[in-house]
Amino acid sequence: MTLAPLPSTEPRKKILFDFGWRFHRGEALGAERPGYDDRGWRTVDLPHDWSIEDIPAEERTPFLRFTEGTWKFRAGDNLAWKNPGLDDKGWKTVQAPADWREYGHKKKNAWGWFRRELVLPAGLIDRDFVLDLGLVAEVCEAFVNGRSIGRTGTFPPKYKAPNWWMPLSQFLVKAAWLNPDGGDVVALRVFSKMGKPLPHCGLGKGGLWQGSPEGDAKGPFDFLSPSNWATGYTVGGRGWYRKTFQVPSSWKGKRLHLNFDGVYMDSRVWFNGKLVAEHPYGYTPFDFELPEPKWGAANTVTVQVRNDGFNSRWYTGSGIYRHVHLTVSDPVHVAHRGISIRTSGTRRTLVDLGVDVKAEVRTEVTIRTSLFDPQGRKVAEKETEVVCPAGNKAFQQTLVLDQPALWSADEPNLHSALIQLWVDGRLKDAQSLRFGVRDLVFNARVGFLCNGRKTVLRGGCMHHDNGILGSRAFDAAEERRIRVMKENGFNAVRTSHNPPSEAFLDACDRLGFFVLDEAFDQWQDKTNEKDYHRFHAKWWKKDLEALVLRDRNHPSVIMWSIGNEISSKEKPATVELARQQAGFVRSLDPSRPVTEGVNGSDKQWVSFDPYMKAHDVPGYNYMERWYRRDHERVPGRVTYQSESSSQRIFESCFETQEMPWVIGDFVWTGYDYIGEASIGWHSFDLSKRENRMWTTAHCGDLDLCGHARPQNHYRQVMWGTGPALALAVHSPFPSFGPRVAGSWSYDDVQPHWNWAGYEGKKLAVDVYTQCDRVELRLNGRKIGTAKSDKATKFKASFKVPYQPGRLMAVGYREGKKAGEAVLQTAGKPVALRLRSEKALVDADGQSLLFAHVDVVDGSGRRVPTADNLLAVETSGAAERVAFGTAHPQNLDSFADAEHRAYEGRALLVFRAGAKKGGLRVKVSSAGLKSATLSSLRVG
Ligand code: GAL
Repeated sequence: MTLAPLPSTEPRKKILFDFGWRFHRGEALGAERPGYDDRGWRTVDLPHDWSIEDIPAEERTPFLRFTEGTWKFRAGDNLAWKNPGLDDKGWKTVQAPADWREYGHKKKNAWGWFRRELVLPAGLIDRDFVLDLGLVAEVCEAFVNGRSIGRTGTFPPKYKAPNWWMPLSQFLVKAAWLNPDGGDVVALRVFSKMGKPLPHCGLGKGGLWQGSPEGDAKGPFDFLSPSNWATGYTVGGRGWYRKTFQVPSSWKGKRLHLNFDGVYMDSRVWFNGKLVAEHPYGYTPFDFELPEPKWGAANTVTVQVRNDGFNSRWYTGSGIYRHVHLTVSDPVHVAHRGISIRTSGTRRTLVDLGVDVKAEVRTEVTIRTSLFDPQGRKVAEKETEVVCPAGNKAFQQTLVLDQPALWSADEPNLHSALIQLWVDGRLKDAQSLRFGVRDLVFNARVGFLCNGRKTVLRGGCMHHDNGILGSRAFDAAEERRIRVMKENGFNAVRTSHNPPSEAFLDACDRLGFFVLDEAFDQWQDKTNEKDYHRFHAKWWKKDLEALVLRDRNHPSVIMWSIGNEISSKEKPATVELARQQAGFVRSLDPSRPVTEGVNGSDKQWVSFDPYMKAHDVPGYNYMERWYRRDHERVPGRVTYQSESSSQRIFESCFETQEMPWVIGDFVWTGYDYIGEASIGWHSFDLSKRENRMWTTAHCGDLDLCGHARPQNHYRQVMWGTGPALALAVHSPFPSFGPRVAGSWSYDDVQPHWNWAGYEGKKLAVDVYTQCDRVELRLNGRKIGTAKSDKATKFKASFKVPYQPGRLMAVGYREGKKAGEAVLQTAGKPVALRLRSEKALVDADGQSLLFAHVDVVDGSGRRVPTADNLLAVETSGAAERVAFGTAHPQNLDSFADAEHRAYEGRALLVFRAGAKKGGLRVKVSSAGLKSATLSSLRVG
């Protein structure tokens, strides 16, 4: 749908403040001073995320993998064993890596020491480096020449395991600590509490049980990332931005206001050397007025960003990764985020408008509000004369719309409003915004109604990153994610576990997508050392306010979520905190229910009832098995699955449709993301990772580049949103080595028929369908028929002796053909194909072009097994900003002009410049016919 342009807001100016910042990666002491010389810094345009850029070579600390080899070991504990001169000849000789049970150390609460000579390879002599001991269970402290170099966890009597997913024991060693003539000794003190290992992590093992992942990290990935696999081995650190800009003298007397939509994280902002803002949370917007600008002269804004330590369970990105806007307005103006629009009724709709007016002296103001229908025609207007005292004051107006076009996910009709402030017949300020008229009902008897229509939330949880673009929140990337979700059957997103960008919500409004807008992943209990728990007590009100005031006018937002998997829910203090936060949110916006993603064990679940009651619509994380029992106990509760397992798609997405009090399901996750690396394959079992670095979670219905994976095909069959049938072939070998079936790992299946080497071997084939009978044919020959119904969870399964060619499934309903699905073997790669999602984009310095590279066979079919090395050349009016694939173990740069194909494809992203012109893209690969696109245009 094309939208009528928003009415002009003259005399107010809202300027995109994204261009021409200077950036420095690392600390830059004193850079807040106005005269600071930043000429050596590089220039960047926002949105910017340094965590997705290649790590500068000089910033990578060299490291020494030191687990593997022969060690001396002694059971027991004696601090004197750290001393370099100790005679350890009598100690046992052991080989690492190994759980110390393997050499007979089997007790609970066991102590042990390891010692080994440190022999440095030539490249590390006289350099600081990281001694990498891999995974040491459970608590350890390492010494070099008797000096402690670090520890993980805490020893008894205050025993604390380092973390249930266990960090790598990697410690910095300074060259100065070593002997000039060698003879250095590493000693390691270890304690393990549990007698036997837990099945899903390293806890309970003992000693040097696993080395670090293999391979040289490149691109944005580094072994030494303090948050290791949680952020997919990407790193944060410190960064500084400066922007020097001219404030024209014609603005004299105006008020200048700066808004940051998101800076990850813990930022401080100075204006002309004066500290004007401090903002810890990386996902909420913040703003301030620029004090005493220098009119007709240069002014400088400086931002320091501190993404320190282990502060997130997933990829965050670093820096000013969302837009910045500068607003110039009259001293009498509508306060920032000062408009609220709430509608009631769908035929004769009352539009309640709140306007917060700001004036510096008592002023008589006329507020004139005009409403426009989706075609841009004025449909209502109202004028109110008010007296605004010095400061802020909120005023109300009510307008009426007759039979307005309603907003829903299917028909996202958007109205707009223009609010003007007039003083003495002169227009002082204006603001325009879009809004939607919709009526939402949440009720245990009928479910979720949008404009009176029963609607099931077909949802996906989604982190905020844009895959190979990192977390840069380009409008076009945010919109693309929603578009792709919608194309693949979804109608709702849970923005796990933090507020999204404003651009994201604009896209949801425009395209029609329901949003659960989430605030936090933790409150006052920490998940990791440096996460938001440090700030929650002081900041939760400000952050919730920032969230609700920014997002309350978006029709796409249907619920506010105040948290995810908050701990200690059985405690009255936590219930009270939930009540306070929910109450505060309702005080800002009573029109939407408050929710949260609640998890727990079966044992605890019922004891959470008081906690659940603090929310209007509590969400269940992985607890769909409680739906019926809970409904009997608490019949009025409306709920949904705020996180669901891809192993239980039938239960979560089909069975629940019979329960009206269950309003939907949100899979973990809709889109794949960087971080929580490999949970879609190994769950949380680190020991199965075989020393490999994974970088994505690999659990999304859509992969990192937006391609639907088989679990999505299955889900769409449950929802009835996609094709009637889909084919999935069980890989005859584990695609990524040993797999641990956990909540997030779907079957190891592929949507292709390219299994060279398996000729004649029987492959398991599933057909997902709600047709009642399926016939399967290979190369025209019937393989068999099978039924598909609730009892088979709508899967018809076959064993098919592999032979290349055409595998076809035909579905029947009551004897009548109702659809078909085909997989066709692709031949050898012969050429590349390039396809852009758009041919033309605006020359605005922000628009993106997404282009797909396919490796194809002689008939133009993508070769799903191809991994050819691709090289791209670009010239023209756009810049390449990302090149990559959805490979979950990718360690390569997204900035390079070369990337290896994965599943026979790769994705390229270009950012339009500010000048019009053509864009020529050529992709080549040794031995393949290259592909060129020369019809792309910017302008
Ligand atoms: C959930 C959690 C998510 C994600 C998921 C899979 O329990 O809420 O944030 O961590 O597990 O790992």
